[in-house]
Amino acid sequence: MTRLTGKSIIVTGAARGIGLGIASACRREGARVLAVDIDPSVDTAAERIGATPLTLDICADGAASQAVLAAMQVFGGIDDLVNNAGRVDEADILETSAKLWHDTMRLNLEAPFLWCQAVLPIMLERGGGAIVNVSSIEASQVRPRHFPYVISKSGLNSMTRAIATDFGRRGIRCNTLSPGSVRTEMFETYTAQYPGLAAHLESLNYAGRLGTPEEIGNAAVFLLSDDTPFLNGHDLTVDGARTIAT
Ligand SMILES: NC(=O)c1ccc[n+]([C@@H]2O[C@H](COP(=O)([O-])OP(=O)(O)OC[C@H]3O[C@@H](n4cnc5c(N)ncnc54)[C@H](O)[C@@H]3O)[C@@H](O)[C@H]2O)c1
Repeated sequence: MTRLTGKSIIVTGAARGIGLGIASACRREGARVLAVDIDPSVDTAAERIGATPLTLDICADGAASQAVLAAMQVFGGIDDLVNNAGRVDEADILETSAKLWHDTMRLNLEAPFLWCQAVLPIMLERGGGAIVNVSSIEASQVRPRHFPYVISKSGLNSMTRAIATDFGRRGIRCNTLSPGSVRTEMFETYTAQYPGLAAHLESLNYAGRLGTPEEIGNAAVFLLSDDTPFLNGHDLTVDGARTIAT
């Protein structure tokens, strides 16, 4: 498994769930991975997969520069970035406080903006790089009472397309990866509030089961690898055919 051999990749939200699935798949394919998470358990998770851990709140002032510095010191460069960390909360517009709006936008949209801004100059100097922004099928298909979440994710898709067009000619590829329902702590916490919701969401796709972090990790490898140099500004949906059905 050598599709990412020689690459240095930063993955945010890598202590568990989809981020850990992505970090693990990147390691398996030969990449060096800086696994970033606010949760110190990233140390043990990273150790398990042979990644380099960095405990960091990605929204903190100067966090992106700190990660860039760490990657430059440990790996000597940065080839790729995966903006994965995110949050979802239950709220319609009337239930969305200014704080919830701000906190969601800060983690789901502003942090990816700042982290892309921090790595792009290094990628450009090296002649290119790939960015994967983990979005959601909810960027286009709205679930009720996910007001700030769906707006943050559709913004992330637009940001991705803007970066792809602004920097495509200079070797940068920027794509979104949009999972359907994947069994992670985020999914469990959300569905635990509504009896039957987990089974209902599972029934909406045509795989007959939930997705796994490993499957999302494999899709991220596809987007990051040099096998796909013409794939840019794309939104790769990995949802067991849920969103194509009526
Ligand atoms: N699970 C799903 O069904 C699903 C579906 C569609 C999209 N997504 C997206 O996938 C991504 C990952 O989701 P998940 O289900 O693995 O979530 P999760 O909550 O299980 O894991 C998220 C990780 O991000 C970390 N994190 C949160 N805030 C952080 C911060 N400020 N700084 C650093 N790290 C931080 C958490 O500690 C955690 O390790 C999110 O962007 C989410 O929107 C998930």
